[in-house]
Amino acid sequence: MIATMDIATTKVERSKLQDLNLENIPFGKYFSDHMLEADYENGEWKNIEIKPYQPLLLSPSLAALHYGQAIFEGIKAYKGADGEAYIFRPQDNFRRFNVSAERMQMPQVPEELFMDGMKQLVELDSKWIPDMEDHSLYIRPFMFSSDEMIGVRPSEKYKFIIILSPSGPYYNAPIRIYVEEQYVRAVPGGVGYAKAAGNYGSSMYATAQAKKKGYDQVLWTDAFEHKYVQEIGTMNVIFIIGNKAITPDLGSGTILAGVTRDSALTLLKEAGFTIEERDLSIDEIIEAYKAGILYEVFGTGTAATITYIKELRYKDFVMHFDTDKWKTAPTVKKWLTDIREGRREDKYGWMVKA
Ligand code: COI
Repeated sequence: MIATMDIATTKVERSKLQDLNLENIPFGKYFSDHMLEADYENGEWKNIEIKPYQPLLLSPSLAALHYGQAIFEGIKAYKGADGEAYIFRPQDNFRRFNVSAERMQMPQVPEELFMDGMKQLVELDSKWIPDMEDHSLYIRPFMFSSDEMIGVRPSEKYKFIIILSPSGPYYNAPIRIYVEEQYVRAVPGGVGYAKAAGNYGSSMYATAQAKKKGYDQVLWTDAFEHKYVQEIGTMNVIFIIGNKAITPDLGSGTILAGVTRDSALTLLKEAGFTIEERDLSIDEIIEAYKAGILYEVFGTGTAATITYIKELRYKDFVMHFDTDKWKTAPTVKKWLTDIREGRREDKYGWMVKA
């Protein structure tokens, strides 16, 4: 698709890319040459521009810093077999972004600004898409309130920005997960389904406690009984039990509607699994493990892609998984990578040219 929005663009004089080796780069540490920036003021989006990546000048009274009206998205761009830049399911992230905006009482970002802005930025910095396996150009659109005013009310001004980060895998080995029973991530009626910045900030304490016990992340449980599993810190979770792929449903509004979650479920269906999106209790998981039919557990996320879980701990009960013997998660991961890099037919129309 041809990008249509006319966006004022100022290019860097010298690319930073020459100074960087894109091999084995960590997630989210380096940023490309350019960024997109736009302001919302008096009910309209203005000052839309693509310019060299640079610091922002912020007032200490900036509303977002005090009350956390801030949301974001995570999207990835890949090099297709034709050498062109493609973005994975950006429309889904665009829709989710505005769902988050509504929940946080922030303005909607027009499709043209979000999609055309992103495409033009990715196209301009397409040399930043790493070529290595499990690497991609991570796209981070975000919006925050920018009133310089510390009264507690929705801001009247907002900033929308997109930055790009060439990234390696978020986790480069199978991880250990601690089932959380004390702290909670979300409650029905809360903001769990929104990609609100505060959801990530507020998860850090529990995650730090789990890390002290030797675990990488927590698996959140429901706020009332701590009985039903929800999602893992940075990703959704899927359990392969018998011939079923089971994952918590989105109905209670406490779980992020992951684009990779949806993609993995689509591919698991294609692979012949029965998909069940429903309440899944930790008791049912342990029972399946004891019966020898809990074959695989994995996380799905834009940053995390498909992350294997080698250990799941609930109280003193520890479930171990020999991820080297797994068939399902590796197949889903391969199919996803092949679609993204143009080696498998994109029959769902997931790849969008930048
Ligand atoms: C993503 O997968 O894009 C996320 O937003 C998770 C994390 C990096 C914050």
